[in-house]
Amino acid sequence: VRSIHIGMLGLGNVGQGVLRILAENGAAIQDRIAAEPVIGRVLVRDLAKARELEVDPALLTLDPDDILEDPDVRVVVELIGGIEPARTYVLRALEAGKHVVTANKALLAERGEELFAAAAARGLSIYFEGSVAGGIPVLRALREGLASDRIDRVIGIVNGTSNYILDAMSRTGASYEQALAAAQAAGFAEADPTLDVEGGDAAHKLALLTLVCVGVRVDPDQIHTDGITRVRPFDIRMAAELGYVIKSLAIGEFGDGRPRLRVHPTFVPRDHILAGVHGSYNAVEVSSRALGQSMYYGKGAGMMPTGVAVVSDIIEVCRDIVGFSEGGPPPGAF
Ligand code: NDP
Ligand code: HSE
Repeated sequence: VRSIHIGMLGLGNVGQGVLRILAENGAAIQDRIAAEPVIGRVLVRDLAKARELEVDPALLTLDPDDILEDPDVRVVVELIGGIEPARTYVLRALEAGKHVVTANKALLAERGEELFAAAAARGLSIYFEGSVAGGIPVLRALREGLASDRIDRVIGIVNGTSNYILDAMSRTGASYEQALAAAQAAGFAEADPTLDVEGGDAAHKLALLTLVCVGVRVDPDQIHTDGITRVRPFDIRMAAELGYVIKSLAIGEFGDGRPRLRVHPTFVPRDHILAGVHGSYNAVEVSSRALGQSMYYGKGAGMMPTGVAVVSDIIEVCRDIVGFSEGGPPPGAF
């Protein structure tokens, strides 16, 4: 079995999920793709930091060159978050001929144009399933499962933190502050939770959904975005009295080829399927011409759900490397 060397940037919530999944499911993955993804080095900021996962200290490095300059590394997995230095490292990885996997929606929504161009110029891939709706393989479903259809609309609950907060406020009477603190402790809020609660994270994800649905690149700053910080317990009570639940929705309408996009708290009828999406769960309802409505639902954030999406992308790149560079997939691979 061929080893494929992978360098990882970041060992926070998602990075630790990736290592755990590779440790737990490594043998099955090897059988499945007839290749072994091997994480060589992992870039961190602080070597001494206490981590949930016990890792061999020799794996960790403070020097990005240990990964970006290593000719054996074929794939770089970026899990630092934010724009810089993630952008510079991803560009350097691509310039060095390495494929990239990332869960960083801010980076791709804000700087995707230059990164995808850099990848295309060298025939390399950027995979980003973990960047939208965490563990739910919604981008793959849109790109592959619905490749033959025309997508008219997506309506998504795509920010787990906002959904968790609104849900806790409406179901348990928790205060906004208590619910936000719980989301942060659970590891699914962004390093800067403003992005979650002001709707910026959902706008980034809506920009990526739009790219995948209709191939149109949208500046997230152009998306009408309203967060949940002004939703008061009174609003939630009023909504309930009228038969509604307040959800933060990301809505993309593509009918006439010109995307109309918005993110805002919305009154959702209590019996609508999106009203039943609780906690940090995500859901994306897609309307397409031939299939009609389809729904993608599951854990949209957190260590293991997002780790699953990232490792599936790693598998996909390994399949590309094994399949395309060496004359077709190996016997038994599927
Ligand atoms: P964390 O903040 O938990 O982890 C970030 C990691 O990057 C840490 O290991 C940190 O090092 C390292 N790091 C940060 N800055 C630097 C730097 N300048 N140089 C070197 N290393 C650095 O983030 P998450 O794991 O939660 O998120 C990672 C990415 O995944 C983000 O883009 C996020 O948006 C995305 N994502 C997160 C989800 C989640 O549920 N958490 C879900 C879906 C996507 P150190 O550990 O030493 O501090
Ligand atoms: N902060 C994000 C959320 C993580 O709460 O949904 C998943 O992208």
